[in-house]
Amino acid sequence: MEKVEVKDAKGKLGVLVVGVGGAVASTFIAGTLSVRKGVGKPIGSVTQLATIRLGKRNANHFPKIKEVVPLAELDDLVFGGWDLFEDNIYEAAKHAEVLKQEDLNLVKDELEAIRPMPAVFDRNYVKRLQGTHVKPEASRRRLTEQLQEDIRRFKAENGCERLVVMWAASTEVYISQSAEHESLEAFEQALDENRTDLISPSMCYAYAAISEGAPFIMGAPNLCVDMPAIGELAERENIPICGKDYKTGQTLIKTVLAPMLKTRMLGLDGWFSTNILGNRDGEVLDDPGSFRTKEVSKLSVIDTILQPEIYPELYGNIYHKVRINYYPPRKDNKEGWDNIDLVGWLGYPMQLKVDFLCRDSILAAPLCLDLVLFSDLALRCGFSGIQSWLSFYFKSPVHAPGSVPEHDLFIQHTILKNTLRQIIGEPTLDYLD
Ligand SMILES: NC(=O)c1ccc[n+]([C@@H]2O[C@H](COP(=O)([O-])OP(=O)(O)OC[C@H]3O[C@@H](n4cnc5c(N)ncnc54)[C@H](O)[C@@H]3O)[C@@H](O)[C@H]2O)c1
Repeated sequence: MEKVEVKDAKGKLGVLVVGVGGAVASTFIAGTLSVRKGVGKPIGSVTQLATIRLGKRNANHFPKIKEVVPLAELDDLVFGGWDLFEDNIYEAAKHAEVLKQEDLNLVKDELEAIRPMPAVFDRNYVKRLQGTHVKPEASRRRLTEQLQEDIRRFKAENGCERLVVMWAASTEVYISQSAEHESLEAFEQALDENRTDLISPSMCYAYAAISEGAPFIMGAPNLCVDMPAIGELAERENIPICGKDYKTGQTLIKTVLAPMLKTRMLGLDGWFSTNILGNRDGEVLDDPGSFRTKEVSKLSVIDTILQPEIYPELYGNIYHKVRINYYPPRKDNKEGWDNIDLVGWLGYPMQLKVDFLCRDSILAAPLCLDLVLFSDLALRCGFSGIQSWLSFYFKSPVHAPGSVPEHDLFIQHTILKNTLRQIIGEPTLDYLD
């Protein structure tokens, strides 16, 4: 296996988060600062905790990933970003009510020093929010240029060697892909013609990041990194992109249970998933347009895993429904119920119920850290365009046109680790590690 030439991880790595004042972003940043201070544990983070088997099966050699893969050090991360509200990140994290006051106090000074830059926002794309810290109205092209200037200024002021830009902002309304999204030329023309109906704020951020040499991570289900125009830009600029929609709670469970049914050749009649959620994300998703974007992302999983076209007698007639209900008393502590109507020997019906009392941002934060470090690694490896080896982290993994996305969590895990082995010049493995 030929070793990939990886540039050194030396110097500061700027981490610019879109929606930096939100629950996910503030929990990610506060947590990462606590971990690097030695007062918090990075539970849930593969880059910080997982090992990787190297060498022959009987060698029993399991170093930590971060010991053998040249990842950026947590001490080198510098945080910033954009939000619709100008609260510093200490205030924002208090408002999100995910982490306890005593945990926030441990990193209060660092959090207070992070102040959002004014956002590019268009209420037609997120109906339930009204921003106060927003760039004055201008054409989409001009707003994108302002984001490019923000990125350059942040890089210079903080002495960063490299940057990563991550979307952890609200889910935008559903829009379908049109001709203007299908090639870079058509997209740039739409940008110049100020087609606000076709170009969402998230597309402006992605365009600005990639053109400034920063990998872009799409954490929400918005149409963005999955459209060919952005893929083309990323290929042209030699920049990695990945997405979309962090795979954290119910879909994480789904992508573990569905492969279990399939490997045992058990049938499925129906899968009903419902959630109650009371944070700002829940409020945004209460709008039918934003919910539609999320629904499409959540629904795609089962069909791809179960392959009804190959197994019509088992999976040819599945009723799959997903609901999200805004219920303020629960705040960030989501409860997700799944009712699975499965079918066994001779067609006898059975039921499986899952009740996951989770914490949305606690599940998402370690994914953000891993994605930032792996995207920066991809950049230093010279990888460009869609990073399908990072599918492990997403509900709707972006994939090359014409290819099928991989949803099975354990296959995704093997691909992730084998890519890391390739990067460090180790043979890939097909048994568990
Ligand atoms: N927590 C999870 O488990 C999870 C899983 C998958 C996806 N997501 C997605 O991650 C995103 C963040 O979730 P959250 O719980 O932190 O939501 P949140 O509402 O707490 O945070 C979103 C933040 O984005 C800001 N924002 C909105 N539009 C913006 C724009 N155009 N520019 C800059 N800032 C903007 C808002 O002001 C807000 O502070 C959502 O899209 C959510 O659907 C979360």
